[in-house]
This record gives sequence, C-alpha cells and structure tokens, in this order.
Amino acid sequence: MDEAPSKANKQESVLIVDDSEINRDLLADMLEEDYAVSQAACGEEVLAILEEKHDDYSCVLLDLNMGSVSGYDVLNHMKEKGWLSYLPVIIISAEENIDCIKRAYSLGAIDFISRPFDVEIVQRRVRTTIAVYSNQRRLSQMVVDQLYENERSNTMLLSILGHIVEFRNKESGAHIENVGILTEILLEHLVKKTDRYELSDSDIKTITRASVLHDAGKISVPHDILNKPGRLTPEEFAIMKKHTLDGAEMIDACTQFKDEAIVKTAYEICRWHHERYDGKGYPDGLKGEEIPIAAQVVAIADVYDALTSVRCYKDAVAHEEAIKMILNGECGSFNPLLMEIVSEIAVSLPELVKASEKQRAELGKRSA
Ligand SMILES: [Fe+2]
Ligand SMILES: [Fe+2]
Repeated sequence: MDEAPSKANKQESVLIVDDSEINRDLLADMLEEDYAVSQAACGEEVLAILEEKHDDYSCVLLDLNMGSVSGYDVLNHMKEKGWLSYLPVIIISAEENIDCIKRAYSLGAIDFISRPFDVEIVQRRVRTTIAVYSNQRRLSQMVVDQLYENERSNTMLLSILGHIVEFRNKESGAHIENVGILTEILLEHLVKKTDRYELSDSDIKTITRASVLHDAGKISVPHDILNKPGRLTPEEFAIMKKHTLDGAEMIDACTQFKDEAIVKTAYEICRWHHERYDGKGYPDGLKGEEIPIAAQVVAIADVYDALTSVRCYKDAVAHEEAIKMILNGECGSFNPLLMEIVSEIAVSLPELVKASEKQRAELGKRSA
C-alpha cells in the first residue's frame, strides 16, 4: 500500500477555471487544505488573470466548454505565449468524447480528470503534476546557473590575463574593460545596420571577450619603452609596433586550442588592431576589408579609450573631442560604415557605456 503522500506546499497556487460555481467550489474544497486556490468563471477572466500573474500559479484546472472563450481558446493562448512550458494545465470536463480530449492534449494540456470528481484522484493528479513541473524547473535552473558560472569563470580568467598585461603597462586596469564595452556597443550597432559581416550574438560575445587580449604582445616590450613619458624615438617605436606580431605569435603558439573561435579571433585582434582602412597601419599594411572586422572594431574602441584616458605621455581629451578626432581621421582611417555608427551614437555613447558597466557589475554580483 502507498504511504500517505506528504502534505503539499501551501505556497503553491492552483487556479480553477469553470463556468459552474458548484464545480469550482467542489474542487476548491478538495484542494484548499494543501494549496492557495483561486477561481475564474470564464475564459475571458482566466486570460486576464494569467496575463498579469501567470508566474504566480503552479497548476491550472481548466474546463473545456465555457461560453464565448472556450478551454481550447485558453490553451491556444497559453501555448502562443509560451506559458505552458512552466504552467501545467489539467483538463476538467464531463466531456468523454475522445476527440475533444485528444484536441486538448494536442494544444498542450498535460492531463485530464473527468467528472464526477473523485477527491483522491484530483488531489493525486494535482500533486504529481506540480511535483514534476517544479522538479523540471529546478533542473533547468541548475543548467542555466551552471552555464552562467562557466561563462563567468571564462570571462574572469581572460580579464585577469588582460589585467596582467595592463599592469606592466602602468595603464589603468579600466582600459581593457572599456575596450570590451566599446567593442560590444559598436558590434551591436553594426549588426543592426548591415548583415555584410554575418555576425551572430555568439560572434559578438567572442570578439568582445577576445578584445581583452589586444595588447597581449606588450608583455615583450621593454619596460622603459612601454612607460616612457615622452615621445618614442623611431627605433623605440619600431620595437613598440612589434607588440602586434608578438601577441599574434603568442596566441599562435597555443596550438592545442588553435581551432577555437576565440583563439582565432584573438589572433586577428592582436595582429591587426593597428591596421588602418587606407593601408597605412601596421604590421602588415592591410587595406579595407582585408582587415578582419573584429580587428577593425577593436581598433576604434582602443583609439577612443586611449584618447579619453590619461597616459604616461599625454593627458585625457574630452569625449566630444575624441569623437571629433576619430571622425576627422586624426587617428588614421577607419571603415566608413563604422565611422557612420560612431557619428550616430556619439551623443548617447557615454550613457551606453554607463548602462553596460552597470549591467556587467550586476552580472558579476549575481553569482558572487
Ligand atoms: Fe596595441
Ligand atoms: Fe590598447
């Protein structure tokens, strides 16, 4: 014999939908000792309730034949809204027509209880359904949390690596964060403007993450050149320029990961983030679309942040001035399409950056 089932959690809410008050009260009597029970007398009423509070319920008991908005209509609406994936519906009906029951199942109903109601059957079906769904919700949440945690660890490790490079550089640690934020903002606007580069959300994430490593090669630049307060001599500048090739070589040496998207992207960014659209950049003098889009975007983000930050050899310039200098071509030539975007978002850029910083801080806190 079965053991007596443990008492359900009264915090779980059940919504009974039936145009017959007697039926609603009958079911409420059977369930209200274990659940918070609400009632709706017609299809219109239940849709209004669910529109506002579909998250609050653990199970819906639904009559099929109810005036102008039937149980089928309610199921249809719930299916369209995606609520059925977490809110189970049990059909309650005297309807014994097998086709009607099949139709309700095909619309997403999870179970069927026929009238006259048997108290034990009603209680067991509701309890089992709620248990299965809450277990499923818990498992999905665990998967989401795990994915999130993995992503957070990856981002954190990459960020630490970027900070190690910046630390030697004596530049503020904010530089790599800022380059990442600006890169993401530019890419998001780029995909809204054109599908020329076929960038998916995942590509945007990969480029943003890899941007952290853009100056990884500076680890091999001698300290006195890296932190020289004045202008570099042509010989020193030639050494400084080598950070692009050194960074690419270091990434290339990670042979076991060479086929990973993030490694390929990091290579492109390290090597070509000082190339310019007219071919006057370094190290390879690539021109136009020969420069991978990841490197083109990071180049603009890098220049903007360098201009607006204090460096050992210069003061910071204001946001408006930095935008003007980039658009004027004072920092070299860039993709005209990206220049259009810079010009369009210039006014809102400080706000966009602030919003992104806030979002990143909240994501960091979420699993801390
Ligand atoms: Fe660089
Ligand atoms: Fe940089």
